[in-house]
Amino acid sequence: MVYELPKLPYAYDALEPVIDARTVEIHYSKHHQTYLNNLNKIVEENPDVFNGKSIEEVLSNLDLIPTSIRQQVINQGGGYYNHNLYWANLSPNGGGEPQGKLREAIDKTFGSFDSMKEKLAQAAKGVFGSGYGQLVLDNQTKELEIIQTKNQDAACSIGKTTLLIIDVWEHAYYLAYQNRRPDYVDKIFSIVNWDEVEKRYDLALSK
Ligand SMILES: [Fe+2]
Repeated sequence: MVYELPKLPYAYDALEPVIDARTVEIHYSKHHQTYLNNLNKIVEENPDVFNGKSIEEVLSNLDLIPTSIRQQVINQGGGYYNHNLYWANLSPNGGGEPQGKLREAIDKTFGSFDSMKEKLAQAAKGVFGSGYGQLVLDNQTKELEIIQTKNQDAACSIGKTTLLIIDVWEHAYYLAYQNRRPDYVDKIFSIVNWDEVEKRYDLALSK
């Protein structure tokens, strides 16, 4: 099986003014595409390792991957997987606040939506080097958590389900924001697709 690039669910300029069209175009059509191309090369050379599994299943069971290619799968497979999640949890019609069960869990865990948002923003801004700030569900305890992940490490590799992922690699913001990562992070909340985040939460709870 060869993995495919999910279609971007909006136009390149749809996330403006938060994320400019050129950044979205390069990020999606060059960076995301390159992770996918590199992953598919690994798949073609090691078909028995992948065997039709979803990328989430592969990254959730890293110990099944031969050590000779494990780090490459983490890097390229994680790059593919994290970006799939990132684009889908943004929307030109996003923003606002989550509702329903997810909202209840956020209030219970963090005290309020604003307090969760602040904590997630701090995590994303504070990533040293390249990585992500994430709101996740722990698969065992079913508790919400805010974590930082480095490089292209995937939350599913450490027993967590990604609910909301914020890319803070420089390629995600540098053209428009240069060194001002905090501005990018603060603004991104106005394009968060909470419907998608709620869907991920409901699905993760049902597993
Ligand atoms: Fe990225």
